[in-house]
Order: sequence, then structure tokens, then C-alpha cells
Amino acid sequence: MTDSKFSPILQAELDEAMAGLKNFRHGVAYKSVGSTNDEALRLEKTSQEQGYVVTTEHQTKGRGRLARSWLMSDGDLVMSIIVRPPLIPAKISLLSLIPAVAIAEGLSSLGVNIRCKWPNDLLIEDAVSLDYFLNFRKVGGILVENVFVDAKLSASIIGIGLNIVSHESDREAVPHIGSLAQLPLALNRKRCLSEILRSLDALFSSVTKPDFAKDLIAAYATRCETLGRKVAVETDGAHFVGHAERLNEDGYLVVDGQTIRAGDVVFARTSP
Ligand code: BTN
Repeated sequence: MTDSKFSPILQAELDEAMAGLKNFRHGVAYKSVGSTNDEALRLEKTSQEQGYVVTTEHQTKGRGRLARSWLMSDGDLVMSIIVRPPLIPAKISLLSLIPAVAIAEGLSSLGVNIRCKWPNDLLIEDAVSLDYFLNFRKVGGILVENVFVDAKLSASIIGIGLNIVSHESDREAVPHIGSLAQLPLALNRKRCLSEILRSLDALFSSVTKPDFAKDLIAAYATRCETLGRKVAVETDGAHFVGHAERLNEDGYLVVDGQTIRAGDVVFARTSP
């Protein structure tokens, strides 16, 4: 690879991380792209590869859920993975829980205790409490985008952003932002990438097992800070506050008996 748009350093990290994996064997590392999800969506059209990983040192137009943007700093991890049937679970709603559990399990081997805010936020604990985010800081997020061809699911793009270096300077704009740099651990992109891909590979290897959905939901539930709390839900133009009771068999959140499939769910104050 001689083209200057590619990053030899990050490619080496990626190749090392993929060595010996079953489902993720190929990938590309750029110096800079707008969004790795956009790049993966573009590559998906021209290749049928399964488990292809797209990563970059810099991302200039990172996208989050609900049309939000995703900020990254040098040294953070951003990547998007192209997965296709049969790696996609029968219930595609479970797809975003897979990276959440994989990241939590992968990073736990590095000493990080990741908590999840349903559906796609990755949190760590912090000493300071914020009204709407309690004593958590968001260190990562997941953006899953599905590609349909003739009404049939052709691929899913799993986008992962993980803040590894300090994001102190972003606190004014985003008070709940955090990063793994807050933890007394010697972490870097290479180590995180390796553990996350290893863990993703293991989970995707069991996707066709009969108990996969049940086990995945149980694993997510043990990490989920949303469950059991009073939450404010904004979905389909409706806004209400209720008690997050459980995850149903599709991985959707049940709040006061209502099934929430999408939208924004934040922690609500427990007293007015
Ligand atoms: C969220 O929290 O709203 C999801 C954030 C997802 C960000 C990642 S970074 C890699 C990939 N490329 C993107 O443009 N977005 C995802």
C-alpha cells in the first residue's frame, strides 16, 4: 500500500488485531475519511466481503444516532465493520447489542468497566453527577446501518466510536463526554482495537446458536444502567417519563409496559 490516503501504522495495528480471527480477516486503515460508516457503505456496494473492517486515524464527519455528529481526537478508535448474513442474527434488532456486549467484554480484559445506556451508548463511571447523565460519562457509541437490496437485507454496517484520549476540551459543548483517559490504566488504540475485535469475533461466531439471543440479552442486561431506572423517553414525537422495566426478546426496552424500539432514552431525575 503506497497511496498516501492509507495509514501504514493503523493498518499494522489492524492486521495484528485480526490475526487468527475467524470472521474478521480483511480491512483497510485510512489516514483520514469523512465517516467510516459512509466509507463502509460505499465499499459494501463493490465487494461482497464478510466482516470487512474500515478504520481511520482521523474522521472529519463522524455521524452518530439521531443525526448527531461524532467527535474524535487523535488516538481515539473509530471503525465500521461490514457484516452480512449469516453473521447477522435472525432478529436484526439485536445487532446493536452485539457490539455493546463485545466492547464491554473486550475492554473488561483491560480493566475497564463499561456500562451501557440503552440502546447504543457506552459509559464509564465518573465522580461528578450530571442531571441527565448521572455519574456516568459517554466514552463510546454504536451506529448500526442496514443495507437492503430489493427489500432483502444485504449487509449491516456496525460503526463504533471509542474515546481513548482525553476529551476534556469538549466538555463545555458536551458535558457528558468522557474518555478512557480518565481511568488509571495504560490504554491505547492498538490494545482496545485488538480486544474489541477478538471479542466481536467470538460473539459473531455464536450468532447461529439456539440460545444466542437469550444469552446476548442477558449479557447486555447485566451491563445496562438504563434498566430499573426512571427514564425520559422521546420517540415518534412522543415524550414521557417512566420506569425502564426490562428488555424484551428483540432487545427492545420496555418502559411502563410500552415497547421502545428507537428514539432517545435519558436518565430522568428521581425527584422533581
Ligand atoms: C452515537 O453514539 O450516536 C453513535 C456514534 C457512532 C460513531 C461511530 S465512529 C465510527 C463510525 N463512523 C461514523 O460516522 N459513526 C460511527
